[in-house]
Amino acid sequence: MEFLLLTPQARPGVALLQLNRPKELNALNRQLMLEIRDALQQLDEDETVRVVVITGNERAFAAGADIKQMADKTAIDMLIIDQFSTWEQIRRFKKPLIGAVSGFALGGGCELAMTCDMLVASETAQFGQPEIRLGTMPGGGGTQRLARAVGKAKAMEMVLTGEFISAEEARRVGLVNRVVPVGQYLEEAYRLAASVAAMSPVAVRLAKDAVNRAFETHLEEGLHLERRNYYLSFASEDRKEGMAAFVEKRKPEWKGR
Ligand code: HXC
Repeated sequence: MEFLLLTPQARPGVALLQLNRPKELNALNRQLMLEIRDALQQLDEDETVRVVVITGNERAFAAGADIKQMADKTAIDMLIIDQFSTWEQIRRFKKPLIGAVSGFALGGGCELAMTCDMLVASETAQFGQPEIRLGTMPGGGGTQRLARAVGKAKAMEMVLTGEFISAEEARRVGLVNRVVPVGQYLEEAYRLAASVAAMSPVAVRLAKDAVNRAFETHLEEGLHLERRNYYLSFASEDRKEGMAAFVEKRKPEWKGR
């Protein structure tokens, strides 16, 4: 891989993906998006990996789609390139994906962060959808995910003015789970990842699927899926083990089955 570093066992059960185009502030060119997709596909199939952390560097998580690569494209070029089928594949990653964000998370970078299930940010992180300043608008789910995450008023303000929000504001409006000093954001993401990796991977997968439905469908269908996944968890050995361990006052040993 040219623009992505993959560490399959950065911590026990936790893989790390690091965007690695530092000179371009990790601008998301086509190649980098394909590498993220391929790496996630590989990690979804790797049973030793329970959780994935995705990060950039201290200066930038990602400053957006690669403007230089897009500048001379026509609408039909964009249609044929069909970058969003790659984004769809990334969105369908089944294991928990935790974003560790420092510096700029802008445009497609903010959208990639919002594709994560949880976000840990450094105090220096800035989130924004500045596409409006380029005469365009978010296309990687920004208008929809931002509105769901932070509400209509804040989403409108960010999308229509292109202004950035700080890590602390992002936490206050519900975009980010935790904000920590810059030296600690990756460790904090690992800590969060470890606490999820300690759970039954079957239950985690079913639960992630159910929470995501809350943002994709109406309440009745979401509740229906939740119930189906809940019943399905009763078919797992891990569920039997989890309840037996509680009754026997011991730690459960998950099999992932
Ligand atoms: C290509 C980028 C880039 C980007 C930064 N660079 N962002 N190249 N695409 N999105 C490059 C710069 O050209 C420069 O390279 C180098 O990274 C450092 O950036 P500077 O601008 O010199 O740094 P600084 O002055 O600190 O400003 C940082 C910044 C600014 C505020 C983040 O770079 C910026 O505004 N970037 C664009 C942000 C943006 O508009 N993102 C949305 C893109 S559209 P050189 O070689 O020139 O020195 C989008 C649509 C998504 O994301 C649609 C769905 C996928």
